[in-house]
Amino acid sequence: MGRDVIIACDFDSAEKTFAFLDKFTGKKPFVKIGMELYYAEGPAIVKELKRRGHKIFLDLKLHDIPNTVKKSMAVLSRLDVDMTNLHAAGTVRMMEAAIEGLTREDGTRPLLIAVTQLTSTDQESMEKDLLIKEDIAEVVMHYAHNAKIAGLDGVVCSPLEAGKVHDRCGEEFITVTPGVRFADGDIGDQKRVMTPAQAKVIGSDYIVVGRPITAAEDPVAAYERCVAEFCD
Ligand code: C5P
Repeated sequence: MGRDVIIACDFDSAEKTFAFLDKFTGKKPFVKIGMELYYAEGPAIVKELKRRGHKIFLDLKLHDIPNTVKKSMAVLSRLDVDMTNLHAAGTVRMMEAAIEGLTREDGTRPLLIAVTQLTSTDQESMEKDLLIKEDIAEVVMHYAHNAKIAGLDGVVCSPLEAGKVHDRCGEEFITVTPGVRFADGDIGDQKRVMTPAQAKVIGSDYIVVGRPITAAEDPVAAYERCVAEFCD
């Protein structure tokens, strides 16, 4: 499996998404469609980006009872995306049900990745709001391990956690890491960041990059800089 840069297309319309991607003449970056764009445009945006030749990470973070997740994953599987995800907090049983739903009759399925603890959750909010008293790093590793037991392919995690996830769950277990910034760029609201080059050293398999590319003066050059630092 090769390393790749996934562009987070955090736009609120198909029009803005196409205007952005049309700048990449001749290139077809791997793109992430999140809740904002999917709720605005529905399955049509997935089909159109697929038709245009992009690989797609559908980032809808499912979390519900196992039966509902299974049936929803079966529907998403028909969209033929390359990667999708759910919350590991939904339990091992929910994750197993998700795999069942996602697997097509011919045995193929998109990669399935778990969110462990959101990077917006810190130790204090986890203890106070969720009543989880363990160390947050341990909770992340435990959820990653649960995802592996359930048969998932990997986790979304901070680039700072990617090395430890590989140590605990194996080199083949995929780490998808947002929170990537250029050494000379704004970090914005991300708290724990790494450069694409550092993410490569620590062993991330995919980096998810939004604003450093989407808000750049020259998005294509910013994307190419990510690829050069991370993939080459
Ligand atoms: O613009 P930026 O590079 O911060 O975008 C990062 C992307 O990764 C966004 O789509 C954000 O929702 C997503 N993400 C994240 N942290 C997580 C999970 C997803 O930043 N823990």
